[in-house]
Amino acid sequence: MTETQKPAEIGLIGLGTMGAMLALNIAEKGFRIAVWNRTPAVTHKFAAAAGDLAGRIVPTETLADLVAAIVPPRRIILMVPAGPAVDESIAHLKPLLGADDLIIDAGNSDFHDTNRRAKAATVGETPHFLGMGVSGGEEGARHGPSIMGGGEAADWSRAAPVLEAIAARYDGAPCATYMGAAGAGHFVKAVHNGIEYADMQMIAEVYGVMRDGLGLSAGEIAGVFERWNEGPLKSYLIEISAAVSRATDPKTGSAMLDVILDRAGQKGTGRWTAIEALQLGAPIPVIEAAVMARNVSSRLDERREGEALFGAAPKRLADGAVSIEQLEQALVGGKVLCYAQGFGLLATASSAFDWSLPMPAIARVWRAGCIIRSAMLNDMAAALERAPTRNLIQDPVFAELIRQAEPGLRTVVGQGALCGHAMPALSSGLSWFDLMRTGRSTANMIQAQRDFFGAHGFERVDDTATGLHGPWGSHGHG
Ligand code: 6PG
Repeated sequence: MTETQKPAEIGLIGLGTMGAMLALNIAEKGFRIAVWNRTPAVTHKFAAAAGDLAGRIVPTETLADLVAAIVPPRRIILMVPAGPAVDESIAHLKPLLGADDLIIDAGNSDFHDTNRRAKAATVGETPHFLGMGVSGGEEGARHGPSIMGGGEAADWSRAAPVLEAIAARYDGAPCATYMGAAGAGHFVKAVHNGIEYADMQMIAEVYGVMRDGLGLSAGEIAGVFERWNEGPLKSYLIEISAAVSRATDPKTGSAMLDVILDRAGQKGTGRWTAIEALQLGAPIPVIEAAVMARNVSSRLDERREGEALFGAAPKRLADGAVSIEQLEQALVGGKVLCYAQGFGLLATASSAFDWSLPMPAIARVWRAGCIIRSAMLNDMAAALERAPTRNLIQDPVFAELIRQAEPGLRTVVGQGALCGHAMPALSSGLSWFDLMRTGRSTANMIQAQRDFFGAHGFERVDDTATGLHGPWGSHGHG
């Protein structure tokens, strides 16, 4: 029996970019993998281009062939577009699989869908089901993603030998972790993406101050990002921001950034995070601002009409108004505030959905392989070990980091606002910080207004009673 004739140890459906890369990664780590794609030609082209790894790849033309090629109890990874394609794949597989087989959805599925699919897998003689978030894009899938799993712990254990072998590693530890039941893994991935949106937006805001406020060229900005990538901001996103700033357009010879249209796309994972946070009452203003900024960026014509109507903002900063060091501190501060909000959402969801999310392990699984990987995550993991559900900015280490970064953040947001720099993410982060260190806010005005028009009741600072009403007279109560 040749290597390819031996039963495969795992199967994969969906040979798009991510699926193909994941299959090669699995084969490279020594596993025999059976693969299937809706279009047979794609399957054969993939196998033919697999080079030395072809010996461990079993291309199949039908789902029945795929199932037959895998040693039971089977493990089959789905890497198909989130949504109906996942349900269709499961429906086509179910008649071919036994109750001991395992389907693993590795796409960017909505955790609500994963909850539903996991529940359906517990009914009758149906295959088991895991939902896992896979982060790191094409490079990550091929050479080491960050993997966040959800489902039954026993099923994770069945998949873990393969997932831990292909995952990115940090200090030798695989960035592949079981997060909890059902949709827990996909929820953690969605929060990862929300933080990704926010990280990217804050970098874009600081880029805008350097480009329009300080008049730096793309090449000069690349140098700033390269220097920042040697300090506390060291991260994949800062690294690639330097690279895209340094790139030259092969068509015109101009800086590549200067010829890219400012209309951002979004597949929607950041939006899901914002929606869920609002449902849970978990404040994540930096992430919400990043989603808003993408939505506004897509309204290019309306923005151009607005500029014609109101005139472009001055943008140019006075000499010395903002320094490169203050911009770096603004990003450090914004990053800490954003992650504090993201981990706050995870802690809220963990309690609301009874997941018992492993908070320190979430920070650890994001240290390598994923898009938001950064040097700061190791310290965040340590802070979450100290107090898993405490607001990160109240951890002594991060409180000190915020104290050091606040002046730079405040200067950048303030000076930027005076010159019309739109910084929704950094400014909402600063406002959240100011709210979170305000013992006497202005919500008393909200309570008075609500009671005036709607008799909704309020509490007093000098009494424990609730549902009190004000002396609004006949004008009150709507
Ligand atoms: C990752 C990425 C990936 C996501 C892309 C595009 O972790 O590898 O987050 O899952 O699909 O970033 O996302 P948007 O189109 O929403 O920006």
